[in-house]
Amino acid sequence: MIRVAIDGPAGVGKSSTSKALAKYFNYAYLDTGAMYRACAWWCLKSGIDLDAETVDERVITETVGEFFTGDHFDISVDPDDPRVYADGEDISEAIRSTEVSTHVSKVSNVIPVRNVLIAAQRAYIAREASLDSFSGGLGVVAEGRDITTVVAPDAEVRILLTAREEVRQARRTGQAVKGVGAEDVAARDKADAKVTSFLSAADGVTTIDNSDMDFEHTLDVMIKLIEDAI
Ligand code: C5P
Repeated sequence: MIRVAIDGPAGVGKSSTSKALAKYFNYAYLDTGAMYRACAWWCLKSGIDLDAETVDERVITETVGEFFTGDHFDISVDPDDPRVYADGEDISEAIRSTEVSTHVSKVSNVIPVRNVLIAAQRAYIAREASLDSFSGGLGVVAEGRDITTVVAPDAEVRILLTAREEVRQARRTGQAVKGVGAEDVAARDKADAKVTSFLSAADGVTTIDNSDMDFEHTLDVMIKLIEDAI
């Protein structure tokens, strides 16, 4: 079982490269950002004011706790069709809206929320070690902000994917045409960096700066790192 942990800031191309890697190796794909986005979507839908100067952390924690323990949330780890559901409703597109992107840090900054999600993410990753899992015990690519440091610091491959800010902003602005919410990536990184450490690599984590690499080149570098670990 190979666990590939990938962290990095917004707009660096983590999702597209992680998905392609998982497909290449027949691994499961866990988009942890989608889990935080789903929580923010659920909080907004529940009427919680995420624009308030100081958000009500207790209410957010209770609401997210109910989302998970009440069995409302579901996620597919198939890299060919990674989808997120709330009560059976497919919210994969809805969680990419500008509304969710600009509010998600308010939810992900709440430490008890992180603890719920970290436990769930570890369980998804551990499940992939079994034969009747999606990957049949082969492996999993998990991407986010704290996978290399907190969720799976013992992963066989740990990568920090990064790029210059203007490059990431341009990529996200380009994606907005395809339905991903337009946003200020620097503002989100600043908020996220208060609780997670993805701006520099932890010990043993390989940094890949793909500012001047295209998608295929980035993928090749990552594939080599995984092949070396197998
Ligand atoms: O990766 P993505 O941009 O979809 O992540 C959405 C948000 O989820 C991040 O901006 C961050 O607030 C939160 N997140 C997190 N920890 C992770 C993954 C995402 O806090 N491991």
